[in-house]
Parts: sequence; C-alpha cells; structure tokens
Amino acid sequence: MVAVQARSPRMTKAIESRKMHLDRKKIVVTGAGGMLAADVAKVFSGSFNMVCLAREDLDITDRARCLDVVVREAPFAVINCAAFTKVDLCEKEQELAMAVNANGAGNLAHACRRAGALMVQISTDYVFDGRGRRPYREADATAPLNVYGLSKLRGERYVAESGAEFIIIRTSWLYGEHGPNFVFTVFNLYRGGKELRIVDDQVGSPTYTADLALGILSLMRAGARGIFHVTNQGICSWYGFARAILELSGMDTDRVVPVSSGEFKRPARRPAYSVLDNSRFHEETRTYLRHWRDALGCFLKENPLQKAMAE
Ligand SMILES: NC(=O)c1ccc[n+]([C@@H]2O[C@H](COP(=O)([O-])OP(=O)(O)OC[C@H]3O[C@@H](n4cnc5c(N)ncnc54)[C@H](OP(=O)(O)O)[C@@H]3O)[C@@H](O)[C@H]2O)c1
Repeated sequence: MVAVQARSPRMTKAIESRKMHLDRKKIVVTGAGGMLAADVAKVFSGSFNMVCLAREDLDITDRARCLDVVVREAPFAVINCAAFTKVDLCEKEQELAMAVNANGAGNLAHACRRAGALMVQISTDYVFDGRGRRPYREADATAPLNVYGLSKLRGERYVAESGAEFIIIRTSWLYGEHGPNFVFTVFNLYRGGKELRIVDDQVGSPTYTADLALGILSLMRAGARGIFHVTNQGICSWYGFARAILELSGMDTDRVVPVSSGEFKRPARRPAYSVLDNSRFHEETRTYLRHWRDALGCFLKENPLQKAMAE
C-alpha cells in the first residue's frame, strides 16, 4: 500500500512555496487518443503549453523512449492518461495489463525523476475490494478484485517509489465525449429497442471527464502532492445511472430493468461498493466536483440521446 502522510508545518511551508504561477508552463499528456486525455487537453490548453502524445507518438511501455521524450521536452509535469482500460480483457491479457498500467506508469515516473518533472498518475476505484461500508479514504487498505485493479495498484506503487514528485488521482466510472463509455452504451441499447438489463448491486460515483480535468488542474494549482480521490459527488448504482441518463433525456425509464451481478456474469469481478471519499481533495483545493446528476445533465445537453438516435 502507498502511504498517505499527514501534513507537518514543514510540509505546509513546502506546499505554499509550490503554489507557483503555472501559466504557460509545459505539460506532457500521454494516452492523448483517449477519453480523459481529450478533456485534459481542452481544459489545460488555455493556460499551458501542451504536448499531447498519443500511443503512436509515445508507447509508455518503452522505457528508453519515455526517458528520451520526457528529458527532451523537460516539462513541468507529465499527466499520464495512457492505460489499458478494458477491464474484462485485462483478465486474459495480464502481461499487457501489467506492461501498460504498472510498468508504463513506472517508466514515466522514472523519466520524471530524471527530468525533475511532476508525475501525475490517474488511478482507479478498482484498487479496492468494495467490501467497505463508508466512502474509501486514500489510506484505506487496497485489495483489487481483478487484474486491471492490480495492475493499476502496481502502477501507483512504482510512481510512489520512483523518487519523482507525484500526484496520484483515483477516480471512478468515467464518461466523456471522446471515448466509448456507459452513457453511449445506454444510448445504443435504447436505440436497439429492447429492455436494458443493468446491474443494481454495484454502487459508485459516475464522473464526467471534463470535471475531472478541472479537478486535476485544481490539485496542480494548489501545489498538492500524494494520493487523492476525485469524483463527482453523490452515489448511484449502474441501474440508477442508466435510469438517470434516460430520465434526463426525456426517454422511457421503464425500459431499464435491474439485475444482479450474478445474473450478468463477466470475466472480471467488480467491487460492489466503490465510493471514494473526496475530503482530502476538498482540504487541498477548497472545492468538490459537482453532483454527478448535474454533471450528467450538462453532458447530455451537449451530447443528447435524441441526436444519437437521429444519426
Ligand atoms: N474509464 C473509466 O471508467 C475509468 C475509471 C477509473 C479510472 N480510469 C483511469 O483513467 C485514465 C483514463 O482513462 P480513459 O477512460 O480516458 O481511457 P481510454 O479512453 O481507454 O484512453 C487510454 C488511452 O491510452 C492509450 N494507450 C494504451 N496503451 C498505451 C501505451 N502502451 N502507450 C501509450 N498509450 C497507450 C489508448 O490507446 P488505444 O486506444 O490505442 O489502446 C487510449 O488512447 C486511465 O488511467 C484509467 O485507468 C478510468
């Protein structure tokens, strides 16, 4: 497990001195072809000099290339949005999951240490086993149920042990404009005209990637270091999430039928409860991301189901 330190007066002073003006500094974003990276690029581009690298530009499993690129670019920070995110496929492709999610993160952190850059690593609620009864705090014991969660946890460890300055952000249930995600899956199922059978015994916090990008920016501006849980506020089950998507789109919510995880067998086990406590993020930034329903409403205004159905 990665240790979460309480703040001493010396640390507070160090943080104060880090709250520097970040404008126009260079930021490298990896995995730039992905969903979160697209919103990070959008949110950060107004104030930073962005170098966005898709997999073709930088394969993070290549340790020598990571070092070359990061040392050459000499950025203020690397935001690692690259990951192997297909949770079920990770069960079959364990080596690849470890290579990308664990060693890839370690490669970038190593390069950051050499270049004197801040390493910002995106991690997941799936590092927990979901047996908790209250929102998970950063220091709570981790116990991933699947290969994806294990590979991401190893990635966290490699980052924390690299000697680079780092921020690790655990988040959950991401959706956004630029990638396949649950909202678009619900759209597609609805268009298909059948009933939607959605699990009702896994709860978490759906998080809009545009909001998460703002959360990452707030942590960096605050000079934060260490592990943080950052999600939209409020909780629901996947079933509740699906109903909200249709309700906020003015569509028929009765088409959604709750089922148990047992009825919906998948290769990777998922945590039943993966709510993350955002208090530490709030202490550092004095903000919370908005409630998930407000974020979803906003997303659906920009990406309406009606538009998808007309296509
Ligand atoms: N999606 C979620 O619900 C969720 C929840 C919690 C945490 N997270 C974390 O949030 C972060 C962003 O997730 P996301 O949903 O934006 O993922 P995503 O859309 O799948 O994007 C990941 C990107 O990484 C790229 N990539 C894969 N292997 C690579 C490699 N070896 N080198 C360089 N790039 C590589 C992928 O390229 P290809 O498309 O070519 O493979 C893809 O463009 C990840 O760290 C993920 O673990 C996601």
